Amino acid sequence: MKAWGGRFKGETEPLMERFSASIGFDWVLYEYDLDGSKAHAEMLHKIGILGVAEKEAIVGALEEIKQEIRNDEFTFSDTLEDIHMHIEARLIEKIGEVGKKLHTGRSRNDQVALDMRMYLRKELSDIERALFRLLNGLIERAEKEKETIMPGYTHMQRAQVVTFAHHLLAYYYMLKRDRERIKRVGESVDTLPLGSGALAGSTIPLDREYVREKLGFSRVSENSMDTVADRDFVLETIYAVAMVMIHLSRFAEDMIIFSTEEFSFVSLPDELCTGSSLMPHKKNPDSLELIRGKTSRVIGDLFSMFSLLKGLPLTYNRDLQEDKEPLFHAVGTAKDAVAIMELCVKGILVRRERMEQAAYKSFMPAVEMAEYLTLRGIPFRQAHGIVGKMVRDCEEQNKGFHDMTIEDLKTYSQVFDSDIVESIDPRMILRNRKTIGAASFDEIERQITSEKSYLRS
Ligand code: ARG
Repeated sequence: MKAWGGRFKGETEPLMERFSASIGFDWVLYEYDLDGSKAHAEMLHKIGILGVAEKEAIVGALEEIKQEIRNDEFTFSDTLEDIHMHIEARLIEKIGEVGKKLHTGRSRNDQVALDMRMYLRKELSDIERALFRLLNGLIERAEKEKETIMPGYTHMQRAQVVTFAHHLLAYYYMLKRDRERIKRVGESVDTLPLGSGALAGSTIPLDREYVREKLGFSRVSENSMDTVADRDFVLETIYAVAMVMIHLSRFAEDMIIFSTEEFSFVSLPDELCTGSSLMPHKKNPDSLELIRGKTSRVIGDLFSMFSLLKGLPLTYNRDLQEDKEPLFHAVGTAKDAVAIMELCVKGILVRRERMEQAAYKSFMPAVEMAEYLTLRGIPFRQAHGIVGKMVRDCEEQNKGFHDMTIEDLKTYSQVFDSDIVESIDPRMILRNRKTIGAASFDEIERQITSEKSYLRS
C-alpha cells in the first residue's frame, strides 16, 4: 500500500507509476535525505514527540539504510516513486510502528527542497574547488608563457600583438568571476526550508532553529508558501554553471583552432584526444569539442528551468519534480568540464616559435605605428590614413614594414625617424604599452602577482 493509500480505493495505473517515478534520478539525494531525516528525528525528540529509544531506533535504522544504499544492497522500485518514499518505507520495514512517526510535521515538499539545498551545498563547493584548481593551473601556465608573443585576434584576423599569457589570463578572469558567482549562489542555497510543511507550517511546535543549527544552515526560510514553491536557487545554480560552460566552451574553441595544422600554435595532450577509426594520422580534440557540445545541453537545462517555473501557481506542483534532471545534468557536466580543462591547461604543448613567427610576420604593429605618429603631433585619424596607405602599398609590393627604409617611410610622413624601427618591434610594443590592463609585460607581471595573492587568500 502507498503511504497515501488511505484515501484511495483503486490501485495506481502501472503506466502512471512509471510516468511519475523519479527514483531513477533522485536517488542521488539519498545521503542528504537521510541526514535531513536524522536531524528531524533529533528535533522531534527534543520537542517531546519521540522518546529517546524511539529516536535512537530511527537514527540507527537511517544509518543502516545509508550503508545498504552505499553497498548496493537496497532495492529500488517505481512503485515507491521517489527517494523519500523509498527511505521511509524501508525504515518502517526495519523498525515497524516507530518508523511511522518520522514524517511528523514534515511534507515531501519541504523535504525535497531541503535535500536539494544540501546536495547543492556539496556540489557547489566541489565546483568552486575545481575552479580554484583550474585558476591555479592558468596562473602557472601564464607564468611560463609571459614571454610567448603571439597575435591577438578580432574577427579571427590578426589584430594586435599580445602574449599567450595575456590570452590565458583573459580566461582566468572569466573563470574567476565564475568562482565568485558560484560562491554567491552558495549563499542563496544556504537557507533551511524544512519546517515549512506542505505549504503552511504546522500546529506541532517544530523547532526549526534547532534543525538549522544541526544541519549547519545560516538561516531559516521565512514564508512557508514561498519556501516549498521556490526554485530560484536551482535557476541560479544552473545559470552560474552555464556561465562556466560558456567560458570553457569559448576557451575550448580557441584551443581547437590553435591546435589545427593551419595554426599549429598548440598541441593537445594525447590523453584528451582520440584517434580515427579510419585515418591513422588523426588526433582529434574530442574533449574540447565535447565541452563545446555539452554546453548546449546545459543552456537547455537553464531554459527548461525557466519555462518550468513560468506560470506555475503557488505552491508545490508536481511539475517541480522536473527540476532535478536539468539540475543534476548541469552540475555534473560543469564539474567534469572544469576538471577536463584543468588537465588540458596543464598538459598542453605550446609551440612558442610558431606563435612568435605569426606575430612577427604581420602588419599588426600598424596600430603602434599610427600611435607613434600621434605621439608626434599628427591627429590620429590622419595617422590612421597614412599607415593604412602604407599597408596597402606594402601588400601590393609584397613587402613587410621591416622591408621599408627610413627614406621610404619619410615619403609617408616627415615625422618618422630611426626609432620607428624599434617602436614597431613586437617585443618593444609589449614593453611600451602604458594602460592598466594592457597586453604589456609589466601589466601581465602585475596581474600574475596580484592573482597569486588572491588565490592564496
Ligand atoms: N519527488 C517529488 C519531487 O521531487 C517530491 C515531492 C512530492 N510531493 C508531492 N506532494 N507529490 O518534487
